[in-house]
This record gives sequence, C-alpha cells and structure tokens, in this order.
Amino acid sequence: MSYTTIHVEASRSYDILIGRGILDSIGEMLRPIVGDCRLGVLTDSRVDELYGDRLIDTLTAAGYAADKFVVPAGEASKCADNLLEFLNFLADCKLTRSDAVIAFGGGVVGDMAGLSAALYLRGVKFIQIPTTLLAAVDSSVGGKTAIDIPAGKNLVGAFYQPSLVCCDTALMDTLEPDIYRDGCAEVIKYGVILDKTLYDKLQEPPFDRESVVARCVEIKRDVVQQDEFDNGIRGLLNFGHTFGHAIEKMSNFEVSHGAAVAKGMVIAARMAPLCGLCDVAEELSALLQRYGFDLSSPYSADDLYDAILSDKKRRGGNITVVLPKAIGECVLVTLAVEELYDKLKLILG
Ligand code: GLY
Repeated sequence: MSYTTIHVEASRSYDILIGRGILDSIGEMLRPIVGDCRLGVLTDSRVDELYGDRLIDTLTAAGYAADKFVVPAGEASKCADNLLEFLNFLADCKLTRSDAVIAFGGGVVGDMAGLSAALYLRGVKFIQIPTTLLAAVDSSVGGKTAIDIPAGKNLVGAFYQPSLVCCDTALMDTLEPDIYRDGCAEVIKYGVILDKTLYDKLQEPPFDRESVVARCVEIKRDVVQQDEFDNGIRGLLNFGHTFGHAIEKMSNFEVSHGAAVAKGMVIAARMAPLCGLCDVAEELSALLQRYGFDLSSPYSADDLYDAILSDKKRRGGNITVVLPKAIGECVLVTLAVEELYDKLKLILG
C-alpha cells in the first residue's frame, strides 16, 4: 500500500497519511497510535450510506470494537444538540480515557467529532478520516474544532489536535461535483497565499489529486507549526474567508463555503490594489472560472460590512484581511473597519 506521510509537530504531534485505497488498512495504521481500544465513530448519513459498513467491517476485522453515530449530512448537524447527543452516545458505549473518537466525513463531522474528543472525559484520542477534498486539505489538519451556535458559525470550539489523519483520496471519487469544487477553492487559496508553483500546476483542471492534496497539507502543516493557536501567520489561511463568511451568512448558508470563499478571494484580490498592492483579480477570477465558480457578488458593501462586523476575526475597531502581494505571496493587512467599508464600497458599490 503506497501513501505519503506528512508529520506535524504541534502541541500534539501526529502523522497525516495520504493515499488511494488506504481506508482498508486503517486497522493496522491505528494500532501504533491507539493500541487496543474502543472506538466511537461519528459520521454523516451520506458517508454512512456509501462507506459506513466498510469502515466498521475493517475496524472489526482488525480487532476493534467500534460504535457508529450518524448525523444527517449538512451544516445544520454541527449543533449543540448533536454534540451533546454524541457525547451521551460515547458514555453509553462506555468509552474510557484510553479509547478514541473517529471523525469519518467532511468538515461538519470532523469539527464536531474533534470538539467531542476534546470534551469527553476532558480529552480522548481523536482520529480524522476526511472524506471530502475540503476536509482533506483544510479542516482535518491543524486542530481547529467547533460547532455552530445561533449567533454564528464555529463560535464554540477548541484547539485540539488529532492523533492521526488518514486521508483515502479514493473516497472523493463519489463526491458530488459542487462538493468537490468547494475543496478546489481551498486548494487554489493555498497556491495564491504561499505557492506559485502549486498555483501554476492548477491552471489546467482537473489536477492530480494525491500530489495536490499532499502539497496543500504540507503548506498548512508549515503554517500551523509556526502559529498553532492562530495569533499571527495562521491568519493567511483566511484568504477570501472574511468576505466569504460574510457572503455565506448573508445567504443564510445557501451559498456553500467553497463557493463563498471563491467570491471572497476575488473581493480580496480587488481590494489589494486599493491598499497599494498588486492586482491579480483578473488572473485569479479566470482560474476560478475554469473550475466552474460563479463569481458574481449578489451583496452590496453595506450588506457585507454588517456581516463582517460580527466576524470573530474582528479586534475592536480593526479587522485583519489577507491580501495578495503577488501570486504565491499574501500579506496580513489590518484596517480600521471604516477603511474596510470605504474600500468595499469602491469594489461592490
Ligand atoms: N481553516 C483555517 C485554519 O485552520 O486556520
């Protein structure tokens, strides 16, 4: 079985394994990390339908006792009620401190399983098995866990690093095209913020999934190792996200995360020259369109500004945005919120 291993040095150090078909070897990959233990698996209805039995059969064949908890697919599942239900499930299954939680799914499942692992018995081991491109390149790496509350997305969470990430890229073969495209927005983001070579490689879709996932994970690993708790350079990973989150919120989450981030990256690229930086908006828009992104912005500066004011990245009267200096090099720029408004007005009217 061939796979790539990327090692992360953080408050908890761990390996990220990336390869086609590695799900069937998950038992032997887990053994050195968790030993003999009971496993509480969180997954969603769609992943369960496609791969749930295969995971449980593989774990059982490897000698593990594994119990599965399934939530409906979709962002609405990342809520306090489901978190509590899953925690109760772990207790009903009599998981102890030497046992482990597995996230088997995309970002919703990964974020909520990670928070559950951080909270249950004040912390049990946590394994990520991402099944979407977005989770593989972003949310399964770096230890951000969360649920949504009525006041906003990801407002309750913890930094809690996994003990292992096992990414079987073959599981992405069955992703619906728009879900796969969501992940492509994050992939393109890595190219713009830190890697022109990656950006160039993405020019002719589709890209080679294994090597591109591995490169994105390496980039995220390098950033997280420098700033695990998100006090500085990790902010670069938010390129397109301040505006993207505002678009998601304004649309009542009808616009998906990746689609919103794509629109947000173009707004950020258009803001760069207004801050004395280079203008890559046209070139970036052309690339995003090649991946099928709709870059129209249905919201005015006033709409987005209101949503941005409640962004968790705001600090008092300032907000830090990520702007391109060149393709492959972004910078953090802190603006007074009024300045941001003026620039948004110039871009969006
Ligand atoms: N998704 C951004 C981060 O992990 O910091």
